[in-house]
Amino acid sequence: MLEQVTRFNESGKRHIIEVFHVYKNYGPRPTLFDINLTVLENEFLFIAGPSGAGKTTFLRLLFRDEQVTQGHILVKGINLQRIPRRKIPLLRRDIGVVFQDFRLIDHYTVYENIALVLEAAGHQARYIPKRVHQVLRMVGLEKTLHAYPARLSGGEQQRIAVARAAVGKPLILLADEPTGNLDADASDMVFDLFAQLHKLGTTIIVATHDKLLLSKVRARIVSLDQGHMEIKNHL
Ligand SMILES: Nc1ncnc2c1ncn2[C@@H]1O[C@H](COP(=O)(O)OP(=O)(O)OP(=O)(O)O)[C@@H](O)[C@H]1O
Ligand SMILES: [Mg+2]
Repeated sequence: MLEQVTRFNESGKRHIIEVFHVYKNYGPRPTLFDINLTVLENEFLFIAGPSGAGKTTFLRLLFRDEQVTQGHILVKGINLQRIPRRKIPLLRRDIGVVFQDFRLIDHYTVYENIALVLEAAGHQARYIPKRVHQVLRMVGLEKTLHAYPARLSGGEQQRIAVARAAVGKPLILLADEPTGNLDADASDMVFDLFAQLHKLGTTIIVATHDKLLLSKVRARIVSLDQGHMEIKNHL
């Protein structure tokens, strides 16, 4: 078992992510400097900031796609640096991720793309089709079940990617510039899905440099600039 320390704020909300004095260096110059952040369970949080600010790097640290150079990150009270490599898939069951470029598998159908997550998590064979249908209904794309991703529009592909991220009922959804390749209508649809997942209790963290998006959605915003994080509105 991994050591787990759960902390709560004054109103009894769980600290689902805690970031303490985190630095990330790729070269001699740090990409992220002394980042400190607490995210509460069921928060909707934006990470704003210009290109090159370190938003993607920060998100990658949260699902252990990258490791910190210094400092530490707790997810659900578990120190990510102490998770052995073979246990990383367990961490990832708690974290759904949506990328700007969708990252669906081209030679898999929509159904297969989504079912894969549940198969990898070892779910029972008879649960999988039921759950995949359920998330496809949520994103309004039941009819695309047997289609290949390349046949769908960008907006549809991103909604499938959201369905894939949500199918395992993760506690946390991370989205990196999720509307970067979408028009306004498709962006709104994707954000409606995030709002639905947020209502169901998911903690949502979205990185974006799209100012319009930031003005449209009610959420806490922290900004990154040249690797420094500024927290404007506190918890
Ligand atoms: N794997 C890597 N190796 C080396 N340098 C990297 C790597 N990933 C990111 N960087 C550098 O870290 C800095 C921050 O990059 P990052 O991708 O996190 O920014 P971003 O805020 O997501 O930008 P954008 O809005 O363009 O996506 C950049 O200077 C980038 O070149
Ligand atoms: Mg980025």
